[in-house]
Amino acid sequence: MNNREPDPVRIRRANPRDLDALVRLDLALIRYDRAFDPTLVRQWSRTADGTRFLRSRLRSRHGGVWVAESKGTPVGYLVGILEPTESYRRPCTLGEIECLFVHEKFRGRGIGARLLAAFESWARRAGARRLRVVVSASNQSALAFYEREGFQPYDAVLEKPLRPSGSRGAVRRSRTPPAVAP
Ligand SMILES: CC(C)(COP(=O)(O)OP(=O)(O)OC[C@H]1O[C@@H](n2cnc3c(N)ncnc32)[C@H](O)[C@@H]1OP(=O)(O)O)[C@@H](O)C(=O)NCCC(=O)NCCS
Repeated sequence: MNNREPDPVRIRRANPRDLDALVRLDLALIRYDRAFDPTLVRQWSRTADGTRFLRSRLRSRHGGVWVAESKGTPVGYLVGILEPTESYRRPCTLGEIECLFVHEKFRGRGIGARLLAAFESWARRAGARRLRVVVSASNQSALAFYEREGFQPYDAVLEKPLRPSGSRGAVRRSRTPPAVAP
């Protein structure tokens, strides 16, 4: 490799030694996502629930964590799990992408697509027939990314903010996501 070539980024399965780096990546994802969903808990990844979630995915046979590593440092990650469809639907295994994040200065170089491809091929081998991801409706750049990767809108989740009973006045209608107190 000469000096002008960008450093190669390696995609690999994460292991328990990556936990601290994964917590930091997860915090960065939450920080990013809070622009679209202010109900997200800022430090969740450091809480008992947050670390339990990451640990469980690291050792799960039905899910996993993949990291993108540059010069030995994780710069992106994907967490995914296999889920059966709901019992009122035809039986099928879904591969659900729970977290996907690439550090800003590494974006637009195909790393997100490579993380997704690693999960997709693992999920396909494990029997998944579809992939699913839940994205904030106003996260336009992530929606564009997933659309480019072959995803299409499926279910739409709608919410309506409610005032506590007894309070006065109508809830203002807005085109932007509801400003729910974090
Ligand atoms: C979405 C994300 C994982 C894509 O990672 P990536 O490594 O930039 O993806 P790729 O290089 O494979 O693909 C780039 C595509 O992603 C989209 N994209 C989204 N945000 C981008 C950004 N800040 N810079 C460049 N591309 C971005 C574009 O559609 C781009 O397509 P184009 O190259 O045709 O313009 C990354 O932008 C990210 O971490 N975003 C913040 C977290 C997030 O929104 N996660 C998804 C919700 S779970």
